[in-house]
Amino acid sequence: MENDFSCNKVPDQNNPDKEFWESRWDKKETGWDIGFVSPAIEKYILQHQNKESKILIPGCGNAYEAEFLWNLGFRNITVLDIAPSAVEILKEKFKDKKGVSVICGNFFEHQGKYDLMIEQTFFCAIAPSLRNKYAEKASELLNENGRIIGVMFNRTFEKVGPPFGGSIAEYQLIFEKYFEIEKMEECYNSIQPRKGSEIFINLKKIQNENKHGQF
Ligand SMILES: C[S@@+](CC[C@H](N)C(=O)[O-])C[C@H]1O[C@@H](n2cnc3c(N)ncnc32)[C@H](O)[C@@H]1O
Repeated sequence: MENDFSCNKVPDQNNPDKEFWESRWDKKETGWDIGFVSPAIEKYILQHQNKESKILIPGCGNAYEAEFLWNLGFRNITVLDIAPSAVEILKEKFKDKKGVSVICGNFFEHQGKYDLMIEQTFFCAIAPSLRNKYAEKASELLNENGRIIGVMFNRTFEKVGPPFGGSIAEYQLIFEKYFEIEKMEECYNSIQPRKGSEIFINLKKIQNENKHGQF
């Protein structure tokens, strides 16, 4: 089999990559999908007045948030996922919805400028070793005064692979380098299966001149 260059790489659970996620989508193993917008995110969106805001939803999966935003009149929405099978579904779903850009790509390589980034079970999907990079990249993608809002897990998980858990103390250390932590607190309106294990975050990008340690 000298000339057989086929690759039967077993996806690394601790470092989930494009192949890992594509395989999950392909096998329809999408147990994370709650089927609607998280109540905490819905509540934030409902009070977000500026319909011109440029909004990014990375690791968006079925992107229920984008549908919700679109129905409210937001027209500057970008949904991004690394798994081609997920993106196929999204392309079909948003084909008649002008104002929703569907991109197949890696968040860490994505280029653009946004006012708001929505976090829903994407941070917990990336390897913990990439968390500092996530915060740095999010800050790079946001305009001045830009924000990340959303929900994150406030618990650990026994199982190998995603979701990767964490705690407020750990997240504070990661995000405070790039963001003012306006909210990082227990989420009071989580869906039942996630009650008591989620936090709501509202993080405002630190203006360049305010970055800690800069002269
Ligand atoms: C746990 S799922 C969450 C999906 C959706 N946010 C939800 O809550 O239903 C994580 C998603 O992130 C995508 N993903 C993982 N790594 C990514 C990356 N580096 N860039 C973009 N998308 C990524 C996966 O394909 C998957 O759809």
